[in-house]
Amino acid sequence: MAKAQLLFPPDFLWGTATAAFQVEGNNTNSDWWAWEQEDGRILHNHKSGLASNWWADAEQDLDAATEMGTNAHRLSLEWSRIEPEPSVFDAAAIARYREILQAMHDRDIEPMVTLHHFSNPLWLVEKGDFSSQVVVDYFQRYTAKVVDKLGDLIPKWITINEPMVYVFMRYLAGVFPAGKQGGWSGALRAIPNLLCCHAAAYHTIKEKLPEAQVGVAKNMVVLQARPGSSALSRWGAGRLSWLFNNMWLDSVMNGRLYFPVGRRKIPNLAGSYDFLGLNYYTRFYVNLPPVGDLISQEWEPGAVVSDGNYGEVYPIGLFQMIEALLPYKKPIYITENGVPDKEDRLRSSFIMTHLREVWRAISFNYPVMGYYHWSLVDNFEWDRGWTQRFGLIELDVETQERRLRRSGRLYQEICHSRSLTSQQAQKYAPDLLQTIFRGESPTQVVH
Ligand code: BGC
Repeated sequence: MAKAQLLFPPDFLWGTATAAFQVEGNNTNSDWWAWEQEDGRILHNHKSGLASNWWADAEQDLDAATEMGTNAHRLSLEWSRIEPEPSVFDAAAIARYREILQAMHDRDIEPMVTLHHFSNPLWLVEKGDFSSQVVVDYFQRYTAKVVDKLGDLIPKWITINEPMVYVFMRYLAGVFPAGKQGGWSGALRAIPNLLCCHAAAYHTIKEKLPEAQVGVAKNMVVLQARPGSSALSRWGAGRLSWLFNNMWLDSVMNGRLYFPVGRRKIPNLAGSYDFLGLNYYTRFYVNLPPVGDLISQEWEPGAVVSDGNYGEVYPIGLFQMIEALLPYKKPIYITENGVPDKEDRLRSSFIMTHLREVWRAISFNYPVMGYYHWSLVDNFEWDRGWTQRFGLIELDVETQERRLRRSGRLYQEICHSRSLTSQQAQKYAPDLLQTIFRGESPTQVVH
């Protein structure tokens, strides 16, 4: 086969992503730290411990990110470090975050900062966390502090990571702290409170930093009825997909709460986003009428499934989810995309096939501006502890030694060449050669 290359635009952002609790270590004032201490909460009772040791030395992984040729990184701030007690702000913690952000700028890595990524200060939990309306003022005040102390180093912001995942895991599945406390009624209060927190943070940032780009990171899952299902099942799967994937975004776009019923107006919410962050991992089937689990983790024959039955590798779903975001009419960043794959069996093909879908979206003029691979380095995977490894860099948790995975070397080649090439495919995923480079028009393929 002749040499072929799928080029990305010159200003495309090539990134990686992490979250504070998952990499920093010793986040002792966080609800997740307390949760880990309880028997049976985390798979095999794993502890986050030093995590990936970022609080002491984020710089070594940032050096690796530079070598990889990336120019962007998404990270989050740990609220419980910045405000360990209500109204008590920790100057040393803020100074360390300044150092980390500055370290990125020094390496020409543009930071995208998430204010809330699943973990809460313990004191907030005592006040009812997101199921209580008091959270909105607290979140606004925390945001104002971050804007004031760190804002000059942050060009891109995410207010809240995956709000619907948070609500589901925290209140309904109970696998996040504080384990189902509040249940459905907590969840129904948390949704509007999360929307109000988002709006408050958006305006707090924009007032002081009008040039800042502020968005949301939305987990989008392909939710489908199984092949051959009845029309009713397909309709039900469609409704569930709207609820999980679109309800939050419709609310933010139109300034109204759509769930459970009615269209209550939420002040200052309409249009409060400058870009959309798309976190994409997998597709799930919906069992309707529910036989066993409503959301099934059983796959059709032939599916490629990642470690721990996490999910099916389904690259075209990324393209479908990009299309699902077009009605919201803003630039799109792929703020997370990755695969748990300790032995690195799947990650190289995963990266190539998913980036192929991003490239295809761009070739249709869809406004996809960047890609942040989850994750730069192996990190603490919430309730699944250390059992699932998403890193381009492999971490030995005991010794803190690192090794660039083979798929990390592929990502390095992609970032340096700003393209997918047939040589990369030949080297890292030969069976994909035909699939990835077949049928492109001559202007898109260099022979
Ligand atoms: C979360 C990450 C998590 C990743 C892999 C995303 O939903 O934002 O924190 O590690 O999925 O499961």
